[in-house]
Amino acid sequence: MMEKITDENNVLQMMEDLQENNLARQVEEGKGPRRFFIQTFGCQQNENDSEKLAGILLAAGFTQALDYSDADIILINSCSIRENADDRLFGHLGILKKQYEDSGRQLVVGVCGCMVTRPQLVEKIKRSYRHVKILLTPQQIHELPAKLHRVFIERKSALETSMEERIVEDIPQARERKFRALVSIMYGCNHFCTYCVVPFARGRQRSRRAGEIIREVQGLAAEGFSEIMLLGQNVNAWGLDSGHKALKFARSRGEAELLKVAKAELSPETFPELLAALAQIPGIKCIRYMSPHPRDFTAQMVSCLKLFPEVESRLHLPLQSGSDKILKDMNRGYDLESFRQLVNACREVRPELALTTDIIVGFPSETESDFEATLAAVEEFKFQSAYTFIFSPRPGTRAAKMPELPADVTQARFKRLLELQNALTYDSYKALLGSTREVLVEGPSKQQPGVYTARDHAFHLFNLSLPPNRDWEGERLMIKVSEARPFSAEAELSRVLSA
Ligand code: SAH
Ligand code: SF4
Ligand code: F3S
Repeated sequence: MMEKITDENNVLQMMEDLQENNLARQVEEGKGPRRFFIQTFGCQQNENDSEKLAGILLAAGFTQALDYSDADIILINSCSIRENADDRLFGHLGILKKQYEDSGRQLVVGVCGCMVTRPQLVEKIKRSYRHVKILLTPQQIHELPAKLHRVFIERKSALETSMEERIVEDIPQARERKFRALVSIMYGCNHFCTYCVVPFARGRQRSRRAGEIIREVQGLAAEGFSEIMLLGQNVNAWGLDSGHKALKFARSRGEAELLKVAKAELSPETFPELLAALAQIPGIKCIRYMSPHPRDFTAQMVSCLKLFPEVESRLHLPLQSGSDKILKDMNRGYDLESFRQLVNACREVRPELALTTDIIVGFPSETESDFEATLAAVEEFKFQSAYTFIFSPRPGTRAAKMPELPADVTQARFKRLLELQNALTYDSYKALLGSTREVLVEGPSKQQPGVYTARDHAFHLFNLSLPPNRDWEGERLMIKVSEARPFSAEAELSRVLSA
């Protein structure tokens, strides 16, 4: 039997139905609202998807559980980017199966996210994990109300998956953080890097309309958020969904158009123009974005860094490898020299820029000299920090068909890269010693009680002790950097900027 599918026009309608049905109470009358727990793996887009799943559940009358054991409905929002993610999902499902059998309760388990887009995994879940009652691809988030209805009211499983690509607005979002709001501005990716599963899991690139994004950010500013993080797998290709022609058009636009957007004489059509428009929203002090791709980084984006101080002073620009041969084998669409020119241009207009990156070690065709080119590039660019990954073959990708390098070779290279990068990160914190900086408090440190973590515009991480007289999360402070640590710096409070 077909499940009821929600389309973009009736998410809100469906939410109202759920509330009318008082879904959260229906099954166990008198026991209070049912509780949900969401476990999220993967990238920040997945985190934002989980905020939407939580938003829907809250709107339907459920309440948030503190952990697995306290929950009546558990959603696992999965990631598929590397192999160990698969193992982790099945490990979790095994534990939940036992919990389900032992508790005698009507525990509902759902699996969402990128792994649900892989037919073999879906089959395995259906075959071996019968306690899973809901399956939801990232393209189906808006179908959660319909699936809840099916499970809790019709008492049936909701396991149909679909990869239909569309953009659904107005899904409620339960924001996880008070200090920084995640805003997905585009979905999917068109690039097909040869190692990467994302275009298969998330589909082709599709951008939200500028007006919808601006409306969302205005709402966030009104709620008191001063910092936002724009998300997309290839975030700076926003607006260029239809390929080469669009890209050519984007490259032809420059500073003049940016200034027109800033004066509201033109509506944004490229990513830097979107940044220009968002920078004008009163209350928005810092706009972060993740991840831009070097191949779509235009001269207009460099102008944007020059003109709009609200655009963050961190540039996360994934290099992946320092060897032109490997970049070609990865289908990255740039070479080391063009990456260098980009970095130089950005540093010229924003000297305080902190450059961060992603690097993959052990791509199948990587030779010792290719790897050394990566080390040389890391040394040259002095990345403030880097996410370093060991190549993991992903089913369906071109690189998965290539013979893998021996694990000991990859491990040894990975260790060398990590040592070099760790030293650079430590140096970057030493360079801040004695400086005074504006930061936003993120929250209490997980390791040290009484200590808070905070970040500056360039995303450097600081630890500082603050008086216990208030909730500091989301406050802006001036701090003085007192001591460098390998991955952060200690700081002292100079002044509170926001009340
Ligand atoms: N869209 C972003 C990256 C998204 S995935 C971009 O193109 O920059 C985040 C990072 O995971 C990638 O930058 C890459 O370094 C790493 N990654 C992706 N697939 C991988 C794989 N199969 N093995 C190892 N690392 C991988
Ligand atoms: Fe994956 Fe490449 Fe797309 Fe990034 S740009 S998501 S690495 S295919
Ligand atoms: Fe993982 Fe999917 Fe994000 S594979 S990294 S959750 S896009």
